[in-house]
Amino acid sequence: MKTYKLALIPGDGIGVDVTASAMQVVQAAASSLGFGINPQHFDWSCAHYLETGTMMPENGIETLRSFDAILLGAVGWPETVPDSVSLHGLLLPIRKAFTQYANIRPHRLLPGVEGPLKAEGFDILCIRENTEGEYSGAGGRVHQGTVNEVATETAIFTRTGVERILRFAFDQARLRRGHVTSVTKSNAQKYSMVFWDEITRLVAQDYPDVTVDMMHIDAMAARMVMAPESLDVVVASNLFGDILTDLGAAIQGGLGFAASANICPDRSSPSMFEPVHGSAPDIAGKGIANPIATIWSAAMMLDHLGEAEAAAAIMSAVEAATAKGIGTRPGRQTTDEITTAILAALEENV
Ligand code: NAD
Ligand code: IPM
Ligand code: MN
Repeated sequence: MKTYKLALIPGDGIGVDVTASAMQVVQAAASSLGFGINPQHFDWSCAHYLETGTMMPENGIETLRSFDAILLGAVGWPETVPDSVSLHGLLLPIRKAFTQYANIRPHRLLPGVEGPLKAEGFDILCIRENTEGEYSGAGGRVHQGTVNEVATETAIFTRTGVERILRFAFDQARLRRGHVTSVTKSNAQKYSMVFWDEITRLVAQDYPDVTVDMMHIDAMAARMVMAPESLDVVVASNLFGDILTDLGAAIQGGLGFAASANICPDRSSPSMFEPVHGSAPDIAGKGIANPIATIWSAAMMLDHLGEAEAAAAIMSAVEAATAKGIGTRPGRQTTDEITTAILAALEENV
């Protein structure tokens, strides 16, 4: 029996509940369809930081390298550990070290879910650059604490980094409706974003079958609200993609539905799967987090591993549950009730 080695990092807050739920669904699909998932649990989190002084051990990246995939809940507990410490100690180094440069975030309305807009039929695949740009970590502070203090945060864009994410987006468009919207702010940012636009035009020449439009992030935010159904593949830099995907999550009914895959496209390193949302301190410990975003992310993981049938079965089970009103409104059902309904639908499907 084919068995996959999975690194499971629940992390903080609701990350613990939603990964437990997703693991139940993944294991049920695996046993019905005849493959194995062998999870190893890592307790790397803010609690781990408070005990040990690090978010993950020094050899954490090397430890993860031997796994087929990583499933992560959420990282961050700002009440006790600054986000700049926790995220730069765990989540962001994994994305970077494993060259998970393509962050895939699908946005569509599941059956039975009413978003805040009249946006029926919208189906966006956001491709977020995931290793450089505004998240490069370059910069610093001088004259700290004085009136002359200056803080810089340098966004670094490389030709390799920009070209590969654009090619990835155009390739995805070929598998969908053949349209790419590339998002920048090249009217105000005259180096990096003009560079991005130039590379978009170059890459587009290799994809005559894909239509492309280039938009500024501000106009794009308005378009996502006014006409989300006009978009197919959206490609953006790290920070712009981060913001647009919480907006996409809102249009699809909330952060509880938004899935995310951090992909290393050449498969030289493991890819990581996680919901778009964070640790949700406001609802942590209440047992009411929506696990659907993480279950969907786990389905993307199985698809990436080559278990397309299991991935499709999980998504059908999720859709069967939401069509009956399960998990569609915050707090109506508990995390456990939503998980049980999805497991029951899965059992009927496979
Ligand atoms: P958040 O995504 O955790 O929460 C935003 C809002 O959405 C909250 O009201 C929350 O209750 C709600 N929400 C989120 N997920 C939900 C779910 N599954 N079901 C129901 N409601 C849900 O964002 P935040 O409050 O800005 O961040 C909290 C912490 O998480 C911070 O430390 C932040 O840095 C971190 N964070 C981590 C990740 C990650 O690990 N990938 C992502 C985003 C934020
Ligand atoms: C996300 C999160 C992270 C990001 C934070 C927690 C660093 O918001 O995955 O969307 O900005 O990438
Ligand atoms: Mn985000």
